Amino acid sequence: MKISIIGTGYVGLVTGVSLAHKGHKVTCVDKREDIVTRINNSEATIYEPGLQVLLEQVIGKGNLKATTDLEYAVMNSDVSIIAVGTPFGDGRIDLSYIIGCATEIGQILKGKDKYHVVCVKSTVAPTTTDTIVKNILETTSGKKAGQFGLSMNPEFLREGKAVEDFMNPDRIVIGAYDNKSFNVVNRIYKGHFKAPIIRVNLRTAEMIKYTSNALLATLISYSNEIASICEETGGVDVREVLESVTLDKRFNPKVGNRLVNPEMISYLRAGCGFGGSCFPKDVKALISFSAGKGYEPEILQSTMNINETQPMRLVTRLGKNINGLEGKKIAVLGIAFKPDTDDVRESPALIIIRELLRQKAKVFAVDPIAVQNASMVLPNDNEELHLMTDYKMALQNADAAMLITSWPEFTSIPSYEFVSFMSKPVLIDGRRVYDKKTMENAGITYIGVGLDSTEAAKNG
Ligand code: UGA
Repeated sequence: MKISIIGTGYVGLVTGVSLAHKGHKVTCVDKREDIVTRINNSEATIYEPGLQVLLEQVIGKGNLKATTDLEYAVMNSDVSIIAVGTPFGDGRIDLSYIIGCATEIGQILKGKDKYHVVCVKSTVAPTTTDTIVKNILETTSGKKAGQFGLSMNPEFLREGKAVEDFMNPDRIVIGAYDNKSFNVVNRIYKGHFKAPIIRVNLRTAEMIKYTSNALLATLISYSNEIASICEETGGVDVREVLESVTLDKRFNPKVGNRLVNPEMISYLRAGCGFGGSCFPKDVKALISFSAGKGYEPEILQSTMNINETQPMRLVTRLGKNINGLEGKKIAVLGIAFKPDTDDVRESPALIIIRELLRQKAKVFAVDPIAVQNASMVLPNDNEELHLMTDYKMALQNADAAMLITSWPEFTSIPSYEFVSFMSKPVLIDGRRVYDKKTMENAGITYIGVGLDSTEAAKNG
């Protein structure tokens, strides 16, 4: 099939390259000439494992090209997939890129006789496609929906695993305006992927995407709420609690004698909160959408509230344990919102660093690859903030270290390194990755999320 994809961010480019790999003829469209040139030169403009190699293959085969010319792309394809950004701003989802894109496509469709399907892949609130996008397309093209097709086909791609997730989907959700639209979008996937294709209406497809992210985010906040209760109780370790709870076969079934250990369980672990470009934005967008419809969602609001206070709790506990933060040197281990990415958007580390600086601590924040992105969003005029890639430098003479992102190079730091680099080592384990007993035996004051160190130590 001939497919045009509008937007070459991580969703657009991964979708384009993966569909071209399946044999479709793909044209990627972006307004930025430099991005288009780099893609045509087989250079992946975003980092995703496996993407570079696939891009080289599909460009070599002539299955993918990039252009700034939207009209050419739409006129020469059967379906246009919209994969532009939907940031969150001013208390609601910002649809300006979607609106701009739909307007331009509609104007082009005015002059296109052949049937064409417009498929929204960007994450948008329920009703966006069947009201806003449809209305714009109808007004600008002078045609009625039905004369052109309309679909909503959400993505379920994790950053850092996007190519793997695209190639091995759990389900393919196709929201369709009518049979004809569905049949076209179905042809993109049918026979190419081993996953059930779920046909729904447009707004159900939008709701599935939001519900999926909101559920995972809620599991994280739920775990963090239980962690806080454990901390206040003393002598209860949230890790033991949640590990035991998730051994329930309804969470973790056995095949033969082996536990399946579904990945979903890893969202039921306490930590310092979720971040990234999707969970916070999507949960907030669903809250604002729902409130706009007259229903104030309580669980979703709590999910966000807990996520905002969780990193602050760590800073408070640290301050109490080292007699205030002013003038203290604090090593922050990890700035990216999760390992294997340089993305710092909505990372709990940013909240922690800003709070430490506000309380006049000297912050030595370290990350293997996210330092450059961090430097763009953190204050560059604060002499107390130092960003670096070498954790040993950060630990040198530090009063405390806080593990925020579970990079393997940080989670494998041996206890003797904390002891030899730091004066009176205090370790905040924001991801519960270190062994408390090993750390305490080495003379380290260990403070873990969901664990009151004093009480727990007292009880054995
Ligand atoms: C998320 C979803 O997982 C994808 O299914 C979805 O398609 C994507 O958003 C999207 O909407 O585009 P992503 O933001 O890349 O993908 O991140 P995750 O790997 O799910 O991590 C999100 C947050 O949850 C991170 O802050 C991470 O630290 C936290 N997390 C993740 C955990 O606390 N535990 C985990 O086991 C995994």
